[in-house]
Amino acid sequence: MSYLLGIDIGTSATKSVLFNKDGKTIASASYEYPLYQPHPGWAEQDPADWWDAVCFTCKKILNDSKIDSQSIKGIGISGQMHGLVMLDEKDQLLGRSIIWCDQRTQKQAEYLEDKIGRDRLISITANPAITGFTASKILWVKQNKPELYSKVRKIMLPKDYILYMLTGEFSADVSDGSGMQLMDIKNRKFSKELLEKLEIDISLLGYMHESAEPAGKVTKEAAKLTSLNEGTIVAAGGGDQACGAVGNGIVKEGIISSTIGTSGVVFAHTDKLHIDKFGRIHTLCHAVPGCYHVMGVTQAAGLSLKWFRDSFCKEEMDLAKIKGVDPYVIMDEMAEQTSIGANGLIFLPYLMGERSPHLDPFCSGVFFGITASHNKAHFIRAILEGVVYSLRDSISILREDMGIDVSQVRVSGGGAKSPFWKSMQADIFESNIAVVDNTEGPALGAAILGGVACGLYKSVTAACEHVITTKNMQKFNENNAIEYNKYYFIYKALYPILKGEFKKLRKLL
Ligand code: XUL
Repeated sequence: MSYLLGIDIGTSATKSVLFNKDGKTIASASYEYPLYQPHPGWAEQDPADWWDAVCFTCKKILNDSKIDSQSIKGIGISGQMHGLVMLDEKDQLLGRSIIWCDQRTQKQAEYLEDKIGRDRLISITANPAITGFTASKILWVKQNKPELYSKVRKIMLPKDYILYMLTGEFSADVSDGSGMQLMDIKNRKFSKELLEKLEIDISLLGYMHESAEPAGKVTKEAAKLTSLNEGTIVAAGGGDQACGAVGNGIVKEGIISSTIGTSGVVFAHTDKLHIDKFGRIHTLCHAVPGCYHVMGVTQAAGLSLKWFRDSFCKEEMDLAKIKGVDPYVIMDEMAEQTSIGANGLIFLPYLMGERSPHLDPFCSGVFFGITASHNKAHFIRAILEGVVYSLRDSISILREDMGIDVSQVRVSGGGAKSPFWKSMQADIFESNIAVVDNTEGPALGAAILGGVACGLYKSVTAACEHVITTKNMQKFNENNAIEYNKYYFIYKALYPILKGEFKKLRKLL
């Protein structure tokens, strides 16, 4: 029997999953780690935690499943995107990673556009300067910690650090690499022009692969630490959004996905390069060779609900423990008791600034319309609705401005576990929704890349045709859609009114 291993380096945890050739889950394990926020808008993690998590989860899976490690034929790694990992000449970590949702780099994003020119930057990287992308983070370190920068010998993304620890290879892939904002997207390689103008030495960057190409083999040392078999092939892998899309079968035009994890992402495959000229939606390389994807990103999707749970729902968490259920199940039930619009309470989910559609690192979260009639259940419902309104902003751009067909949305991530949040997505998007049978998303997509790299599948698309099936096709409810629309339009009107005040408020901190 041949197996594949998918490893997903997430923001709240790393999850490793063992699959058989048909994409059926055989065993899985996850391991959580902290997120550090030393200042408002900053977000960091320790790459050593990710590596510990990989060692722990691989060992656990092999132990639990009792399979022979030699029967794992290919490994793929998916990772949270845009994070900056730096190593010195002895390959030691130079501090924590500045991760995807960090928003400290407004000045550097402006510098990037000044230095390259906004139009030229868009024509090379397909995106205007984005504070969350890696280029601005590198510039931040260069400008604010020159001594630290002088020690940097390798710059890599989170999943590439894990690939390096597993195989000793210094690699990058097109899907995650294009989120660094240092690539010439049309030619799918690092841009010499950009690197020269920004004075970033190309030798600091890994070798660029297509995502399903083999990038290395598990080393003897890594085999000892993970219980994996020395010599197992590891694919170059991909960003978590591209891998999640592969795991949802979003590998051709016509179906899009909506994923609510820590962030929320609306994702569409495109055969040709499509660019939103206002930069509200990102355009990046897909993990399908030669193809692209467009995506809208809500920075704090699941993060908003988790923040509310951890800060205000101790009672519900205690009750969940007694009942042996997830606290989110209880929070869902409470929200479901209230009606559409949360009795006039509207939430803007900008707890970590926002990318789509505002590209604004300074905006912050808002509850609008609070009255003495509101209770905790209304606040939970307002959060669930606000996150989906934000994703709807991206869907509207895909549909109305970019002409992308949004007739079916595949929902996934933690948000798809809640039947209530799922049907809310159908009604607010005004789209029919479906769920794929295997809900492992990024880990499954990564394993598929590993399967192509080791020759178990012919191509990413062929693997998806073999492995991905859908269930629970659900139609949207037209009456609910009309009701939600009334609140959505108020939601939409709030950001432009508050935009200037957000910035003034941030300056006081
Ligand atoms: C995508 C993005 C997030 C992270 C974390 O651009 O920043 O989705 O990859 O999941």
